[in-house]
Amino acid sequence: MPSLNDVRSTFLDYFGANGHEIVPSSPLVPRNDPTLMFTAAGMVQFKNLFTGVETRDYTTAATAQKCVRAGGKHNDLDNVGYTARHHTFFEMLGNFSFGDYFKEEAIPLAWTLLTREFGIDPDKLLVTVYHTDEEAVAIWKKTAGLPDDRIIRIATDDNFWSAGPTGPCGPCTEIFYDHGPDIWGGPPGSAEEDGDRFIEIWNLVFMQYEQFADGSRRDLDAQSIDTGMGLERIGALLQGKHDNYDTDLFRALIEASASVTGTDPDGDGNVHHRVIADHLRSSSFLIADGVLPASEGRGYVLRRIMRRAMRHAHLLGAKDPLMHRLVPELVAQMGQAYPELGHGQRMIEETLLSEETRFRRTLDRGLRLLDDELTRLPEGTDLPGETAFKLYDTFGFPLDLTQDALREKGIGVNTESFDSAMAAQKAQARASWVGSGEQADAAVWFDVADRHGMTEFLGYADLVAEAQVLAIVVGGERVAQAAAGTDVQVVTNQTPFYAEAGGQVGDAGTIETDGARIEVTDTRKVAGVFIHFGTVVAGTLREGDTARLTVDGDRRARIRANHSATHLLNEALREVLGDHVAQRGSLNDGERLRFDFSHPKALTADEIASVQARINGFIRQNGPVSTRIMDLSTARELGAQALFGEKYGEEVRVVSMGQTATGKGPARDTWSIELCGGTHVGRTGEIGLCVITGDSASSAGVRRIEALTGQAALDHLAGQARQLAETAAIVKAAPQDLADRVRQLAEDRRRLEVEVAQLRRDVAMGGGGTAPEARTVAGVPFVAQVLQGVTGKDLPSLVDAQKGRMGSGAVLLIADAGDKAAVAAGVTDDLTGRISAVDMVKAAVAALGGKGGGGRPDMAQGGAKDARRSEAAIAAAEAILSGD
Ligand code: ALA
Repeated sequence: MPSLNDVRSTFLDYFGANGHEIVPSSPLVPRNDPTLMFTAAGMVQFKNLFTGVETRDYTTAATAQKCVRAGGKHNDLDNVGYTARHHTFFEMLGNFSFGDYFKEEAIPLAWTLLTREFGIDPDKLLVTVYHTDEEAVAIWKKTAGLPDDRIIRIATDDNFWSAGPTGPCGPCTEIFYDHGPDIWGGPPGSAEEDGDRFIEIWNLVFMQYEQFADGSRRDLDAQSIDTGMGLERIGALLQGKHDNYDTDLFRALIEASASVTGTDPDGDGNVHHRVIADHLRSSSFLIADGVLPASEGRGYVLRRIMRRAMRHAHLLGAKDPLMHRLVPELVAQMGQAYPELGHGQRMIEETLLSEETRFRRTLDRGLRLLDDELTRLPEGTDLPGETAFKLYDTFGFPLDLTQDALREKGIGVNTESFDSAMAAQKAQARASWVGSGEQADAAVWFDVADRHGMTEFLGYADLVAEAQVLAIVVGGERVAQAAAGTDVQVVTNQTPFYAEAGGQVGDAGTIETDGARIEVTDTRKVAGVFIHFGTVVAGTLREGDTARLTVDGDRRARIRANHSATHLLNEALREVLGDHVAQRGSLNDGERLRFDFSHPKALTADEIASVQARINGFIRQNGPVSTRIMDLSTARELGAQALFGEKYGEEVRVVSMGQTATGKGPARDTWSIELCGGTHVGRTGEIGLCVITGDSASSAGVRRIEALTGQAALDHLAGQARQLAETAAIVKAAPQDLADRVRQLAEDRRRLEVEVAQLRRDVAMGGGGTAPEARTVAGVPFVAQVLQGVTGKDLPSLVDAQKGRMGSGAVLLIADAGDKAAVAAGVTDDLTGRISAVDMVKAAVAALGGKGGGGRPDMAQGGAKDARRSEAAIAAAEAILSGD
């Protein structure tokens, strides 16, 4: 009996042997189709090949494609567990031709695989064709020799397949298996077709047209083939089972679920095991593809699936978190075909555990509330929507979980009143936000949020994504289109652009549609709506357009490195300076990082050096940076750093990096753990290098550190090295001897200054110490001189020297420095009873046109603008001596 793994490989080997390229499954989050929530068919990754927009170096391909049908258009969530063939996650086997072969080959290829390779009895097979497709009828007759009654013509959309409202489409032929008359049901097209006797196993689509939004179609240039066969169904058939959940793979998961809960896999709990097995697959594959539980969009679908499984685990009596314990079995079953499961195993287990731990806190209380309400509920009535809303809002019960819980009891939920309770809450949130006066023009964004919901952010994983243009705003008003040259604000349903938050600047990049190109310079968010700020640089942008959004990846990489380095800096500061260090603000942009923190004084050079050494040590460690979603209290228990005064929701994103033997976290092995919504490097080594360039005071008790990373840090160091080399060349020293050389030069200079000053004095006084001629004024020997090349500072010692030479007398010296003059007077001690140097200076300064002057009777100084009137100044001093 072939296992599901065998069936998958047989399929791929068969088409490989028939010249098909075996292409890996694309991720569950479609990269190329903004209208899809999840990849729900094999052809999704090839959409552009069918329409001819893209070509590759192969024209035929085969895949085993991961698919999720939950949330969005294709939603099988509600039926899972209760039916034989519904799944939220399944694998679609498909072969594809892109303008290569068409129906003449596709039908025989399929028939041979089923009847020869898989060995299915041809008599049990029958097919449907689109009612006008006589060609297909003829090929089936020729290939399989099917009689007319086993080729059923269907006139409905059942046999015309399209990818969605737009895109490639065409008639199809479906192959059915007849499980025999023991099972109730009729052939396709009959009144009993919904019975379980005739099961569709394979759909072959003849891609011939492209459908447009207005309903029109064009013929595709090339005729193509797209087929889809659910692995679980064909596997069940080949294992002789009627129920997909009885196949080997599901059996293994169900038994794992039974074993960890100590319950019977086949007893009353069987439905719970089936739900758990299915939801384990979809949750794990979604997490492996980068979806994390959230309150919006894809993340919310994941949360709904996880919580639904958790309620079923609870119903099995599981006392402790269960789902994460089943992951190893899933990896054992599917990890070889999908290596991403093994790579993501730790992340998957942690995410499941944390979601389950959190949800368990409210699950019991919510279920009790639900039971209480039910006892009061009159027979035959639906649960009031207000109650379902309370369960949603207070206890975290997604609506479909409540519906699932009531399903067994045959009770519905009033979804209308649920919706109005939800709308009322949104209106209240809006009123309080607008009331806060934060942004007067916010109304337009709330309208967008009301109409379209919040924007889904894809930028943790992707820098390029397709999206639909939901709103264009010009000058605060919604517009239907915007022409080249217009400054616009653009909202799309999803975006890889990070909106400014937590100190990280918004992304820049481009938005391109078929008709237009917008250069985006900034991204911000209001009410969960991401707003791209930019300018239409070519063409006309229209609401409803499909757009390709591309983040400026180089800039983002620099921002990312700066942001991760900021986390390392935060921790390094706490380690070096102490636990009083708390973040007060930060900025991470494409150029640099800035970090404000509480600390009373400037950092010493040694402190800066050890902070920088720690950061770079963890950069060189090149350890992984991990991101987890958890509730606030768990994050706090882990010792996560949070921003002081910031309001956090119940649920937070936690970023960890750096391995150390004495750290934080459950294993006490993590260096930095912070609550953070920003984008980060994958491994610390990507930061490259971090250099602190500044430490300054930001405000009282708050310091600000600035730093550079990566190329900017290298450029900074290279600039410094250049300056060093230039300087070393100027002083003719090797760079390593520069400090000694400069110290030596400084010493030399000081010594020379002293010498020069002495020489200047000597020269000024007539060289070699010769005393100028003294005359006698009123009996007092008096020397007066105008000196060049000395400053006011030199005068006192010159006056003293002169006094010494004279023994008894008075001196007046005027230093003529061009645009200013200094004056000093001295009187020997024997004469100070009669004459004051202060009077002499004052008189001289006044004569020079200046003011003031002062000192002691034996030595006084003053200054004036210039020395042009020095003759008059000397005369004025003489007048003091003569007592005139
Ligand atoms: N794309 C086709 C389907 O999903 C084969 O059924």
